[in-house]
Amino acid sequence: MGKVYVFDHPLIQHKLTFIRDKKTGTKEFRELVDEVATLMAFEITRDLPLQEVTIETPVSEAKSKVLAGKKLGLIPILRAGLGMVDGILNLIPAAKVGHVGLYRDPDTLKPVEYYVKLPSDIEERELIVIDPMLATGGSANEAIHVLKKRGARQIRLMCLIAAPEGVEAVKKEHPDVDIYLAAMDEKLNEKGYIVPGLGDAGDRLFGTK
Ligand code: PRP
Ligand code: URA
Repeated sequence: MGKVYVFDHPLIQHKLTFIRDKKTGTKEFRELVDEVATLMAFEITRDLPLQEVTIETPVSEAKSKVLAGKKLGLIPILRAGLGMVDGILNLIPAAKVGHVGLYRDPDTLKPVEYYVKLPSDIEERELIVIDPMLATGGSANEAIHVLKKRGARQIRLMCLIAAPEGVEAVKKEHPDVDIYLAAMDEKLNEKGYIVPGLGDAGDRLFGTK
């Protein structure tokens, strides 16, 4: 069964408070999401494997460590996932970025796919699917299906805020996928919004609506 990690670093929790606040405007919202994405990237990469190399410092030879293992791929779910990409690339600039375009039908709450463009070698990469919101879990589940259908083998899911319903849905459909969050909220409301959540992540990031 997939594991669920909630990153409760004080800086993440502090910034998330301002992200949630409805008084926070688009510019600040975007900056804060970017910063939290960087902090979450720091946490999610804690278990990356290292290998020892020998280098020469100005003083002597030294054994030291560099990243080893699989290369990474970031897969933002369009559109709101885009808001987290640069923040993660700040720490792992060599990651390739693929895009999965999905929107949630406002009546059925089911994801509708409209765009997929992925790195050609996703089967060899460790992929991180990114989306600020995990509500019903429909979008994340569909994005993970899209990746698996095209050969992806190692996938993690990183979201700012999740509802318990979404976490359960992903755990059920993709038990091989670990989930990384900044917060686990209370519930979904009757319109499928996370409570208390932050509202519509895409609209708040891009100033639409
Ligand atoms: C939001 C959000 C997720 C999805 C979550 O996207 O960014 O992708 O809803 O809901 P779910 O877990 O119930 O599927 P939205 O469909 O509003 O599209 P947008 O990113 O283009 O605004
Ligand atoms: N999508 C959002 O942007 N916000 C929610 O609360 C749920 C889905």
